[in-house]
Amino acid sequence: MKVSPSILAADFGNLQRECEMLNNSEADYVHIDVMDGVFVPNISLGMPVTKALKKYCSKPLDVHLMIVDPQRYIDTFAALGAHIINVHYEACTHLDSTINHIHSLGIKAAVTLNPSSPVSLLEDILPMVDMVLLMSVNPGFGGQKFIPNTLNKIERLTKLREQTGSHALIEIDGGINEQTAHDCAKAGANILVAGSYVFGSADPHEVIKTLKNIR
Ligand code: DX5
Ligand code: ZN
Repeated sequence: MKVSPSILAADFGNLQRECEMLNNSEADYVHIDVMDGVFVPNISLGMPVTKALKKYCSKPLDVHLMIVDPQRYIDTFAALGAHIINVHYEACTHLDSTINHIHSLGIKAAVTLNPSSPVSLLEDILPMVDMVLLMSVNPGFGGQKFIPNTLNKIERLTKLREQTGSHALIEIDGGINEQTAHDCAKAGANILVAGSYVFGSADPHEVIKTLKNIR
């Protein structure tokens, strides 16, 4: 299992220290939640914070754009050092072009689905993307409860991936704890985003290790 701790739950007054904690952990990525207050009700962080994270964090940046018309900011987040850019299916009118655009910059591309969007929407784009991010909560806030139907979606997506010959990894975002992580792993997930479960713990290293070892 790969783990992508969400910086949204970190102590923003001590970002450098939080980055150093992640650098010394077994985390595979750092997940960056960019929110614009329009696509989702919350406003989180943007370019200056991403720049600081790139400076202090040695893990690849897993950038999750919860913004309208994300194609406007692909070049910007590529220049800031994103390793993978996640755009929402629901926010892209020309998803094929947006995915091509991300790839043309030498960056990995992922498509994200809200809880109410069926995985069947991805049938034609699946062979083109490096990852699918399934939201297991309605995007906008950390600390929400995992939506159980996500497990059915993971199973359906795993089948669709086989049918389409895609190699996309399946990442799950929202409400991850030890129990939901187990359930996601059993259903076929490859990467887990975890915010409050990691940063709200007295021993984040141990939590990351636990998630990494989930089968
Ligand atoms: C929600 C964000 C998540 C969030 C996860 O909109 O996309 O990445 O930080 O937080 P937890 O793990 O606390 O549910
Ligand atoms: Zn996220």
